[in-house]
Amino acid sequence: MSFPSPSASHLFSLFSAFVLWFWTNSFHSSSSEQESTSSGRPWADDEEHVFIAPGPKDVRSPCPALNALANHGFINRSGKEISASSLYSALTSIYRLSTPLAELLVEGGIGTCGHKSEQWLSLDALAAHNVIEHDASLVHDNAPLGAKFAPIDVNWTLVDDLVSRYPDGLGIVHLAEARVKRERMLQREKRPELDLLHGEIAHGEAALAWLLMKDAQGVVGTETVRQWFGQETFPGSYVIPEEEVTLRKAREISTKIGDEISWLKAAL
Ligand SMILES: *[C@@H]1O[C@H](CO)[C@@H](O)[C@H](O)[C@H]1NC(C)=O
Ligand SMILES: *[C@@H]1O[C@H](CO)[C@@H](O)[C@H](O)[C@H]1NC(C)=O
Repeated sequence: MSFPSPSASHLFSLFSAFVLWFWTNSFHSSSSEQESTSSGRPWADDEEHVFIAPGPKDVRSPCPALNALANHGFINRSGKEISASSLYSALTSIYRLSTPLAELLVEGGIGTCGHKSEQWLSLDALAAHNVIEHDASLVHDNAPLGAKFAPIDVNWTLVDDLVSRYPDGLGIVHLAEARVKRERMLQREKRPELDLLHGEIAHGEAALAWLLMKDAQGVVGTETVRQWFGQETFPGSYVIPEEEVTLRKAREISTKIGDEISWLKAAL
């Protein structure tokens, strides 16, 4: 297997980094069965999975996708010591990630921020600054300079800003624009730019957000921005998709957003 060099810009994506990691550390999870989901919205008709905001002892991550899973009890609501198989099963059953994509993300998360020998991850560990987490998040504040962990709380000013700037929802181009805007704020605050890897991770995340949460018009609607990015619950319109989100699709959209970001930056 050959890997593109980092200078090959977008080709060196989050996913190729995880693919490398994955192929050199084979995945040893028990092949847990997918949670069976009779309806496309199991959280809506199952009391066990109603939204409950985290309590004072619960921990959460900077990632809305994982926090929503914990807020609905698809992974332990404590957010602590979540096993690889539990993460994997929730990602495949609720977000319909394909097996390889879910495995890469779970192994990437546990490999960088979790307990590698026991194969678990506490959600707050994902806030370790500049491991996976990075500055210029769409809805989180930057890490204070010198801090080891980034803030986990959502900044509602940033959520409201996205909603008011994109009243018709965010398509791929808008997500790229929003990323560029946040990265320019780093310059203004005289903070270091995102390095290549974290730039790639950032638009990989935007790509996954779009793939998971886009509506029939191909945009992430304003209610979805408020509910998923903001409140960290499943949007009123969200139904578990029939079609899997594959590694290939994630890569394709990540590359599109990355190219769009490059054009926007070149045009500045
Ligand atoms: C969830 O995590 C808590 C705290 O770590 C633990 O006490 C509890 O048994 C776990 N619940 C399940 C269903 O695994
Ligand atoms: C939230 O973000 C805005 C815009 O970047 C910023 O001005 C504000 O200070 C942030 N709020 C908090 C509580 O950090």
